[in-house]
Amino acid sequence: MEQIKLLVKNAGQNDPESLEQYLARGGYEALKSAARGCNGADIIEILSASGLVGRSGSGFPVGKKWAVTLEKEAPQKYVICNADEGEPGTCKDRLLLMEHPHAVIEGIVIAGVTVGATRGYIYIRGEYDAAAHIFSEAVNEARSAGYLGCHICGSGYDFQLEIRRGAGAYMCGEETALLESIEGRRGETRIKPPYPGEAGLWGMPTVINNVETMANIPLVLTMGAEKYRTCGTGSSTGTKLVTLCGCIRNPGVYEVPFGTSIRSLFLDIGGGCPEGKKLRAVQTGGLSGPIMSVDVLDTPFDIAGCNAAGAFLGTGDLIFIDEATDLAGLLVNIMEFFMEESCGRCVPCRIGIHTLVELLRALASGTADIDTLRQIESIALHIRQTARCAFGTASVTPVLSALESFYDLLTSCVEKEVV
Ligand SMILES: Cc1cc2nc3c(=O)[nH]c(=O)nc-3n(C[C@H](O)[C@H](O)[C@H](O)COP(=O)(O)O)c2cc1C
Ligand code: SF4
Repeated sequence: MEQIKLLVKNAGQNDPESLEQYLARGGYEALKSAARGCNGADIIEILSASGLVGRSGSGFPVGKKWAVTLEKEAPQKYVICNADEGEPGTCKDRLLLMEHPHAVIEGIVIAGVTVGATRGYIYIRGEYDAAAHIFSEAVNEARSAGYLGCHICGSGYDFQLEIRRGAGAYMCGEETALLESIEGRRGETRIKPPYPGEAGLWGMPTVINNVETMANIPLVLTMGAEKYRTCGTGSSTGTKLVTLCGCIRNPGVYEVPFGTSIRSLFLDIGGGCPEGKKLRAVQTGGLSGPIMSVDVLDTPFDIAGCNAAGAFLGTGDLIFIDEATDLAGLLVNIMEFFMEESCGRCVPCRIGIHTLVELLRALASGTADIDTLRQIESIALHIRQTARCAFGTASVTPVLSALESFYDLLTSCVEKEVV
């Protein structure tokens, strides 16, 4: 299968691209013209015409998000790059931070110039020490070369970028919890609206985008909207970094055009299951995505394809699950993660996930009865309907989807005499 490398030039080399290398391939040219010539509205028009959408799983149009902040009058605006990347199984942002830090920096500064923000933060996952170190060296390099700081690229714009580190909380990847964390409080979510674009960091208009989204900004501006749209599909333009993991011969991060089928990702890139194992299920979009039968393999991996199939594009993660995997045990493992990571603020999530874990443990150990399965479904639905934030509502997706696609298999775990 042909490898497309728009974003990631040397994936897997573990070799950070230096400023010199980045400049040699046209790096920081988009920032130069943004800082010297364009006004914000022009840049937003190009981004909107390109169809660029957020790569965190939000799928939100970047032009639309930035326009909200541009239009706001405020004494201070901010740009935040979300590099918390806590979704288990996903490590695409780490790859960009470590191998293409300047593309991420350029995207962040262009965001600042476009919306009129003079300060920015990048919130890097606590566990990503090596990535944070490489990224901070690139920030110093960019500052010394005049791409950050005062009068960037010799223009009248100033932009300061500060690195903040997470402390191991998955929840802090959610944009409003991240704002709380930067402001020095517990990482708990805020009720939206207002959205950060209108009232974010310290109540000021704030653009928040994922690392991969930021890295796409200079690419779109140098390629032009029309050419960018030629890659990918109507609902999802450009490429996507996908992480393949689980029962697969070639796990890793790969850049592919949006719309590549999950089958092609599994077989042509991933090499299928190792050692003659047979695929039973695929969890799409990350650990909070649905666990689906192999029927999902023919789905084009883009927003429209996933929506139509009931799958999630999410972070672009695909977890392959073979027939030897104990599905009930896997669900215990997944829900233990969410139990650990719940912020505990609302009852449905704090108590509900804990109860689900207890019931799933009984199922996995063969001590459950058929009523346990009904309770699991009912509690999961209750959490989905009543949890305070997207963490809680999304956390039960693996359980509900597994019940839908693998009910018979899960029923076989219950005590036969009680059935
Ligand atoms: C529980 C939870 C965790 C999240 N974690 C991340 C994360 O680690 N990185 C990220 O970019 N977005 C994460 N998000 C999404 C952010 O809230 C936000 O939508 C995103 O940073 C916007 O970026 P985009 O528009 O470029 O996609 C998370 C959302 C939720 C509900
Ligand atoms: S759903 Fe409730 S307890 Fe769970 S993370 Fe959100 S606010 Fe916290």
